[in-house]
Amino acid sequence: MPELPGKADCCWVANTQITDYPPLDESIHAETVVVGGGIVGLTAALRLCEEGRSVIVLEGLRVGRQVTGRSTAKITTQHRLIYRDLIDSIGFDRARTYAEANSAGAERIKSWVAEYDIACELEAKAAYTYTQDPAIRSKIEAEADAARQLGLVAEVLDRAPLPFDTAGALRFPDQAQFNPAQYLVGLARAVESRGGRIFENSRARFIGEASRWRVVTDHGTVHAENILVATNMTVKSPVGMAHRTQPRSHPAMAFRVEDTAAIDGMFISVEDPSRSLRTGRDADGPLLVVLGQRYNTGQERDLAARFVEVEDWARANLPVGEAVWRWCNEDYDTADRVPYAGEPDPEKAPGFYIATGFNAWGISNGTAVGMMIADQIAGQANDWTALYDPARPFPEDFHQSGDSQSIVAGPEEIAPGHGGVLISGEEKIAAWRDEAGNLHTMSANCTHKGCALTWNNADRTWDCPCHGSIFAADGSVIHGPARKPLPPVEF
Ligand SMILES: Cc1cc2nc3c(=O)[nH]c(=O)nc-3n(C[C@H](O)[C@H](O)[C@H](O)COP(=O)(O)OP(=O)(O)OC[C@H]3O[C@@H](n4cnc5c(N)ncnc54)[C@H](O)[C@@H]3O)c2cc1C
Ligand code: FES
Repeated sequence: MPELPGKADCCWVANTQITDYPPLDESIHAETVVVGGGIVGLTAALRLCEEGRSVIVLEGLRVGRQVTGRSTAKITTQHRLIYRDLIDSIGFDRARTYAEANSAGAERIKSWVAEYDIACELEAKAAYTYTQDPAIRSKIEAEADAARQLGLVAEVLDRAPLPFDTAGALRFPDQAQFNPAQYLVGLARAVESRGGRIFENSRARFIGEASRWRVVTDHGTVHAENILVATNMTVKSPVGMAHRTQPRSHPAMAFRVEDTAAIDGMFISVEDPSRSLRTGRDADGPLLVVLGQRYNTGQERDLAARFVEVEDWARANLPVGEAVWRWCNEDYDTADRVPYAGEPDPEKAPGFYIATGFNAWGISNGTAVGMMIADQIAGQANDWTALYDPARPFPEDFHQSGDSQSIVAGPEEIAPGHGGVLISGEEKIAAWRDEAGNLHTMSANCTHKGCALTWNNADRTWDCPCHGSIFAADGSVIHGPARKPLPPVEF
């Protein structure tokens, strides 16, 4: 396989200082333990600290470098076309609550950036959803009308301000974009300054009840009255979240451009293959970020081909230069396009909170639910709990699992730096050849519920086609719901 252009990393993460919080190595107590140092976990932690509550944050890797840090980080209430759909499906009042919660989430980010002096390249930008199909223009008009009824400011344009032809666009003024990894590093600092404690490289391996909640990591334990599992996909829940959601991912590329005004605004297409565009920068100058079509995590044999397709499209349509960065990122969809967040079973599991299913709009939604859960823990009323209720009914057929797409006939088919799944009797083996040519063999069965993994030939990870766990080439966990690494096996 030819090498893909660009460095295999996300431009925001690569240009953000790595935090250095210690791992947990003792048994301690706090009123609330937050598992996961992403936008949800750190937002809730900071709100609680601001209320004078005692909080411990456990992060399995390093703060801010996972889904939030690798997103396109548009801070907007414009979630492609959603409001007409929400009014029709969940009703006007809940649709209005969705608009209000996301507006409040977006405003909170801006106010915290100012209050805590967080350097994160926050910039005001308009958000545009555009179409190249004249037949879709009426949908844009209906969305603008719905958004206005819900109290949002929306206008319809004959064309988007883009260097290629469009047939109409929905414009929300006064939205924003930022570097999400830098923002989370700033939030973590704010949590600490307000008395919260943060531990990194402290993956929750076990969560259970023992005179309130108990979280066990490799070298320590936290006891707490409340727990928020803010791990993007919950690693434990009284109600099964993995079956209510569908993991999906996107390829993303960042290209060198002459200046940050190469395009002015944040853009997303209505039709597929979807394109999401924004500008940004790294240490060497301005960038244009292009996101490609979604795919179901772990269900694609050749992800590298998707990057080639994104690059070809960008070169044909945008003033881009060298491809500098490339990465994949994952989030979870829900059937009704609303996240699941809150206390799923207050009777049997009081004090247990979760947040997942952000439908790739978790910057504003994630901030909103972090604020909401902090209110719930602090015993304060919050108008959004019914909207996000994690125990609401869901269609059983929404979630689609899959099988490994990476079966190879033998080790000779695996090139240095790559992986493949070998069959040995009844067993599936994840085989990865390092750059020196040595073959490493592990179980190909995901440590969550045993599905056979697919090799991601772009990010060079093992991706699970069932509930979206992602493992590094060496089998260590990058993304849950899995909590344990892939065990080595003989071949
Ligand atoms: C391609 C893409 C583009 C996107 N663009 C946008 C956008 O422009 N605007 C927008 O609003 N939304 C966007 N989103 C969605 C948004 O990025 C996410 O919904 C949001 O960042 C999720 O935040 P989180 O806190 O749940 O997850 P994360 O940021 O991943 O945080 C969860 C943390 O939990 C940690 N963790 C996991 N398991 C454990 C464990 N067992 N123990 C301890 N820690 C653990 C992880 O290491 C991680 O740091 C996008 C999503 C994708 C996939
Ligand atoms: S994530 Fe559930 S089986 Fe892999």
